[in-house]
Amino acid sequence: MNVGIAGIGFMGMIHYLSYQKQRGAKVVALCEQDKTRLAGDWTSIKGNFGPRGEMMDLSGIAKYERLEDMISDPKVDLIDICLPPAGHASTAIKALKAGKHVFCEKPIALTSADAKKMVATAEESGRLLFIGHVLPFFPAYAFIHKMATSKKYGRLLSGNFKRITADPQWLKHYYDPNVIGGPLLDLHIHDAHFIRLLFGMPNAVFTTGRMKGEVVEFFNSLFLFDDPSVSVTATSGAIRQQGRSFTSGFEVHFEKATAIYDFNVIADRAETSLPLAILTNDGKAQRPELGSGDPLDGFSAEIAEVTRCVKAGKPSSILSGDLARDAVVLCNKQTESAKKARLVKV
Ligand SMILES: NC(=O)c1ccc[n+]([C@@H]2O[C@H](COP(=O)([O-])OP(=O)(O)OC[C@H]3O[C@@H](n4cnc5c(N)ncnc54)[C@H](O)[C@@H]3O)[C@@H](O)[C@H]2O)c1
Repeated sequence: MNVGIAGIGFMGMIHYLSYQKQRGAKVVALCEQDKTRLAGDWTSIKGNFGPRGEMMDLSGIAKYERLEDMISDPKVDLIDICLPPAGHASTAIKALKAGKHVFCEKPIALTSADAKKMVATAEESGRLLFIGHVLPFFPAYAFIHKMATSKKYGRLLSGNFKRITADPQWLKHYYDPNVIGGPLLDLHIHDAHFIRLLFGMPNAVFTTGRMKGEVVEFFNSLFLFDDPSVSVTATSGAIRQQGRSFTSGFEVHFEKATAIYDFNVIADRAETSLPLAILTNDGKAQRPELGSGDPLDGFSAEIAEVTRCVKAGKPSSILSGDLARDAVVLCNKQTESAKKARLVKV
């Protein structure tokens, strides 16, 4: 699978590094508007995990400044979109129409209408569309996804999910609904997608929260399902203090087990405050062995799934455009609910 990566920022770099470890996939082209990065100087790239950017030897890789030129490169089979969210829909639609498969970072798009157009274009063109919802490939989340699909611990009953960032002051357009979309579309969308994957599509949402301009800054959401006994909640958003730059976690209840997990970055130190524990009906707690804890392993597993699916000519049940579109629909309904201060049907 010959890959062309669009956008060499934090995620473009993480994807590039993950492809280097992937058999059956090769980066043959890059597109970036910043000439310094395109020439291989990635030292200005920095994210909230993983390595800092370095000087790269990009010889043998085609380099483009314009997206259209990379999309029309006949050597490229798959366009991997790591652009800011505002560029996802137009680039993906052009690439699909040009006969390329597309792997696009989350969120699929900023609006439900654009997300629907992307899914429809993939269907019409017969090409595969994958959206980079990496969370189900992170070991603690992968473990409970497996618990749910195997039915080993019975039916899913309820869940509470948390994902909070300190105000990312270095991201200029974070709260702009037309560029990044704020904490709901940037951050909570990971949990919205995971909730959709585990529990199915909610039929209504109720969100209360603080607004910052047009987007929700911090919120609590309740997700309602056809089965009224299924109870799912989520807390997410940005806090103003920098002392805890990030936290995520969950408590998920099955008929015969409860899964609990909590991760924090406090004063720049990452701590898995509560490694995944599975509490079972016999009163015991299992602590599954979950590997190195390196977040890059999740991206490698995600890219392995894309490579496998392209080889087999089949969509992914986890990275599908449909699920990613549903996650955007949910996030936008949650914003509507917070603005109207009432329950909103999905
Ligand atoms: N899965 C995750 O955990 C995760 C983490 C971070 C970011 N992301 C997602 O990845 C995507 C990119 O985020 P990022 O943090 O890497 O952004 P970034 O700003 O670091 O990088 C974007 C890059 O795209 C380039 N670019 C923008 N428009 C372009 C154009 N028209 N042509 C060529 N190059 C162009 C920019 O110059 C920049 O280098 C976003 O959708 C974000 O939500 C996902």
